[in-house]
Amino acid sequence: MTQQPSGALQNEPRGVLVVAIDGPSGSGKGTIAHRLAAALGFHILDSGALYRLIGLAACNHQVDLADEAALAKIAAELDVHFIPTEDPQEPLQIVLEGQHVTRLIRTDDAGTNASQVAKFTAVRDALIQRQRDFAQAPGLIADGRDMGTVVFPDAALKIYLTASAEARAQRRYKQLKDKGMGVSLHALFLSIQARDEQDMNRLVAPLKPAADALIIDSTEMSLEEVFDTVLAAAQARLG
Ligand code: C5P
Repeated sequence: MTQQPSGALQNEPRGVLVVAIDGPSGSGKGTIAHRLAAALGFHILDSGALYRLIGLAACNHQVDLADEAALAKIAAELDVHFIPTEDPQEPLQIVLEGQHVTRLIRTDDAGTNASQVAKFTAVRDALIQRQRDFAQAPGLIADGRDMGTVVFPDAALKIYLTASAEARAQRRYKQLKDKGMGVSLHALFLSIQARDEQDMNRLVAPLKPAADALIIDSTEMSLEEVFDTVLAAAQARLG
């Protein structure tokens, strides 16, 4: 099911085309974002990875996940490299402080820690410019929770991708299983619900669709159908 956007088309800063894809955990944003980036030849920003990396770096340095000032310092100084690969299962290799952490940051615990650090204003502020710097010609697909609302409010196209919590838990379960990571479906469902609750109700940059977003509820849609819908919207908007 899709809902058409109503806002006027605006250009991003520096004339770089940005497609913002926001939505809750497990909505398929990541897969769609990578496919769209490949189809359009655009760069990609996985903003969730940044919050996951801050959580991991904090654990590595024994920083309390409730210490906003210390977390903001980690965010400001984050030593991370995103290295594109040809592997569709793992399109980016992520190196934190010289260590490959691509898989380590994908666990459910890493997601929960990310959600914990992401609620702090100082942490989010410390990441804003780093995220905007990803906007390089010819364009950027920005995947996250606040891409269309806060980080790229003038994005040429904003997509809000969602699905029922049950469907998202099923998909995440399959994804983690395919990667050889063992996890219980019920535990995933509860964790997705908890993360929705935290991400949607936090005071700063809560997860919500931008007023001019194209809303896609993918509960009853296949990945191909979602991708075709998003690609058609991108082609129509970006020309
Ligand atoms: O997208 P992903 O599941 O990797 O994001 C992990 C967590 O990071 C989210 O649950 C959310 O709390 C936080 N996040 C955020 N803003 C973003 C991207 C992620 O707050 N733009």
